[in-house]
Amino acid sequence: MSSQTTLTKQEVDLLYHLLRKAAVSSERDVIGKLAKHLLQGPWYKGLLSFSSWYGRTYLLERIPWHVWEGEVSRVLELGAGYGWLGKGLSKKLKVPYLSVDKRKENKPHIVLDLETWAGIEKLCAILGREDLVVMSDLLHCMEPGWVLELMDVLSENRLLILEYDVQGEYGESFVQQTSQYGCNFGYLDVLKKTKGLSTFYIYPYKGWYR
Ligand SMILES: C[S@@+](CC[C@H](N)C(=O)[O-])C[C@H]1O[C@@H](n2cnc3c(N)ncnc32)[C@H](O)[C@@H]1O
Repeated sequence: MSSQTTLTKQEVDLLYHLLRKAAVSSERDVIGKLAKHLLQGPWYKGLLSFSSWYGRTYLLERIPWHVWEGEVSRVLELGAGYGWLGKGLSKKLKVPYLSVDKRKENKPHIVLDLETWAGIEKLCAILGREDLVVMSDLLHCMEPGWVLELMDVLSENRLLILEYDVQGEYGESFVQQTSQYGCNFGYLDVLKKTKGLSTFYIYPYKGWYR
């Protein structure tokens, strides 16, 4: 996608072609909601239903499961949204699932805001040493200072973090769109390097784990 605001004819032709394909596929509902999210502002329901379908369909099976087998007593998901990642992992690992989100309309098990001290304290109270803590598309939504606080709290836990690969082929349009809402990406690689995480890629997402 070009960085100019005007799309080239080739880009519009590709977009029209892909939307036509989506309109006759079984995914038309999630694609329609995603279009509303993208064109009319950050409508979370549209984003979350698409993200859940995308994650379940394309990402879940590509995660290196073997890394956690036998060493996890529960999957704790932060910024869970509709919880496709945590639910999928807990089913695969046959362990309980606990979800956390700041939006009560997402119906998480526990509502808390990770960008407040009250939220961090609540997280400390529920966090278990044997929890596998997972997050998908959460960290870029948070202020870098609160991400560092969160990483300190989670320093003893096993982690799985998924974020969109902003340096990949489609990263530019993702950064442009999400930056409108204050999202922040520059520090994510630094975080990976300083927190002893290993990397894997499920293009266009990248994952980090410990
Ligand atoms: C981009 S959505 C991703 C949702 C889901 N993980 C997925 O992959 O579909 C980010 C989620 O993080 C939640 N979130 C954002 N900031 C948060 C915060 N400070 N504390 C807790 N949850 C937060 C939002 O409510 C939203 O559900």
